[in-house]
Amino acid sequence: MGAIGSLKTPMITPAKLELDGQVYELPTLRGTEGEPAVSIAALRDKTGHITLDDGYSNTGSCRSAITFIDGEKGILRYRGIPIEELAEKSTFVETAYLLIYGNLPTRAQFRAFSGMLTDNENLHEDMKYHFEGFPSTAHPMAILSAMINASSCFYPGLNGPRNADRFDVHAARLISQVRTIAAFSYRKSRGLPIIYPKRAYKYTANFLHMMFSDPYEDYNLQPEIVRALDLIFLLHADHEQNCSTATVRMVASSQANLFACAAAGVCALWGPLHGGANQAVVEMLQEIHKSGDDGSKFIAAAKDKNSGRRLMGFGHRLYKNYDPRATIIRKACDQILKRIQVADPLLDIAKRLEEAALNDPYFVERKLYPNVDFYSGIIMRAVGIPLEMFTVIFGIGRMPGWIANFKEIMEDPKGRIYRPRQIYVGSGLRHYVPLEQREQ
Ligand code: CMC
Repeated sequence: MGAIGSLKTPMITPAKLELDGQVYELPTLRGTEGEPAVSIAALRDKTGHITLDDGYSNTGSCRSAITFIDGEKGILRYRGIPIEELAEKSTFVETAYLLIYGNLPTRAQFRAFSGMLTDNENLHEDMKYHFEGFPSTAHPMAILSAMINASSCFYPGLNGPRNADRFDVHAARLISQVRTIAAFSYRKSRGLPIIYPKRAYKYTANFLHMMFSDPYEDYNLQPEIVRALDLIFLLHADHEQNCSTATVRMVASSQANLFACAAAGVCALWGPLHGGANQAVVEMLQEIHKSGDDGSKFIAAAKDKNSGRRLMGFGHRLYKNYDPRATIIRKACDQILKRIQVADPLLDIAKRLEEAALNDPYFVERKLYPNVDFYSGIIMRAVGIPLEMFTVIFGIGRMPGWIANFKEIMEDPKGRIYRPRQIYVGSGLRHYVPLEQREQ
């Protein structure tokens, strides 16, 4: 299958660093889009110093050929192709192939890839019993992570050294089965019978079928709804070194298996500052709607550091401009709601909030714009996805990106375990005091 992009980076003039009166040269390099970097890998050996970068604001943790983001210009490209083109012309499955294998598939490659997804869509039948152990109140992200890990137990070969020969099938299995696990966990949480996948359905249609069909009546698959959800999956498919992808790479660097890495990715994604923001946005909009506020009270609270509140779906570590995914989703939101004739008051509230925030000096000065999560929940509501499943949808979408990053780690001949350093700020040397001598 298609080759992964080159990880080579041309060198530029070395940087000079002066420390305690001594000048050190540090190698520099540029990414293919011109982003310059200083390599500090040998800094400690040369100088005794480490670098400190809380929250990794300025740390490149790897070289990657998968996704390019220019946050200042609002650019996002998968394997060089602008997200806008993929959103308009591609599908989630085709984009998944592009991310994992580096190029758009030929017809034969696409047929083989989708065939593998279909062949691997069923969970091992014994997996059904694992779902029984969760209370109906369990969050589907907890179930998703646990079940991805549990399903790895059914494929003992997964733990072989690096697994390169079986990678294609493991990757297809994971992309396909994560959707089956997600739908089963939803059915279980509602006390509904499990619906098995149908071979005849394509990826996203099959997910909707497993979520909403009944044993006695198939769900009416409307093309607009299938397309809208497929777009949501596609727009979430990768986003370079975000919290969950960095987690996947971290776990992969220890040579853990693909399923273990994905399960860890799900846990990182769950938090409200990351993937959990899509659920938090709709909860925020519902709260505003219920209170009858026009949003101004909420904006005031989001600006007040003591309130503990943030305008969810706003701001991004990289984008200091519009998140291009948000622009696409906002437009899709208007179209899909119109086409399926849904009038959602939350969409009006979201638009009012966006306008108010974009005209407010607090948000303008900090360059806080709507991100992917600001409007995605409104589409998901419109197509019938329950609130607690929003982050799961993000997780299904992000799977190809995690797999592509896992593959990059697996194929890197110079790969080393990820192991950051720290600046210790705890107590100096002290000695053990026996219990009876300690003051109460
Ligand atoms: N509402 C109010 N203030 C905000 C917000 C917000 N949504 N986001 C950032 N700020 C403020 C923050 O308080 C800080 O102010 P100051 O400089 O006065 O201390 C400044 O903007 C910079 O924020 P930061 O926390 O240093 O930025 P970050 O890069 O560490 O965090 C973020 C990025 C996405 C976690 C943050 O913007 C946020 O919490 N947003 C809301 C949650 C959200 O929508 N998350 C989804 C992110 S996109 C999809 C994904 O990755 O999953």
